[in-house]
Amino acid sequence: MEENTKIPQHVAIILDGNGRWAKAKGLPRNYGHKQGAKAVEDILVVARDMGIKYLTVYAFSTENWNRPETEVTALMMILRQYLKSSIKKSMKNNVRCQVIGERSKLSADIQDAINELETATAGNTGLTFTIAINYGSRDEIVRAVREISQECSNGKISAADITEQMISEHLDTSNIPDPDLLIRTCGEQRLSNFLLWQCAYTEFYYTDIAWPDFDEAELQKAVDAYAGRNRKFGGLKTEPEE
Ligand code: IPE
Ligand code: IPE
Ligand code: MG
Repeated sequence: MEENTKIPQHVAIILDGNGRWAKAKGLPRNYGHKQGAKAVEDILVVARDMGIKYLTVYAFSTENWNRPETEVTALMMILRQYLKSSIKKSMKNNVRCQVIGERSKLSADIQDAINELETATAGNTGLTFTIAINYGSRDEIVRAVREISQECSNGKISAADITEQMISEHLDTSNIPDPDLLIRTCGEQRLSNFLLWQCAYTEFYYTDIAWPDFDEAELQKAVDAYAGRNRKFGGLKTEPEE
């Protein structure tokens, strides 16, 4: 067995290219989204078996509401089904599930499904799986700043007490470490408002593979690329020679 020291603890994925994948096959975009949801289910088990402890996926951004209503409705339907079917699978796989993003804009039944999934899986001790729904990093930072400002105006803290750690603790990701590796599929090389604060020292990996085709072999390639990186965090640290 290979040593597991170079396995990233937290992998975040911008799952992109569902629409292009479907279009290339002459199929409707929404079919691509369905296949994309299946790929998420599969990669979760693969990630767990590789020893990854935290997996975070970007499923719906605060900007994705700008898509045609029919596509938004289809995406919400897929998310609804995904959340509901996840309880049983997560219990079987010992996965703890949680959702980040602004929930009040989601329909009441989706909010209920999120709460049920989070509550049911809260005690699971295996991989922590975080799904970003109606998530935008700028929105998340605004909400954090509002909370901290409130504490200042209540007199609970003063402005000088504000630290990086305090900001991190007010983000939706307060209970998980920053990502070690961020993967984006289908050729785009941008963050699209995902985890801006949290990715300060994250290693980025891009692939031309569209999300529905992203499988175990592709995740292994990303993890291997990560293993070859020299993370320096602003210092001069170099990895020991093999
Ligand atoms: C990613 O696939 C899924 C979501 C953003 C919801 P896209 O729907 O962005 O697929 P492309 O980029 O149009 O191919
Ligand atoms: C980012 O993908 C959002 C999600 C994967 C949910 P997009 O496809 O929406 O991003 P842009 O529009 O290409 O930047
Ligand atoms: Mg896209």
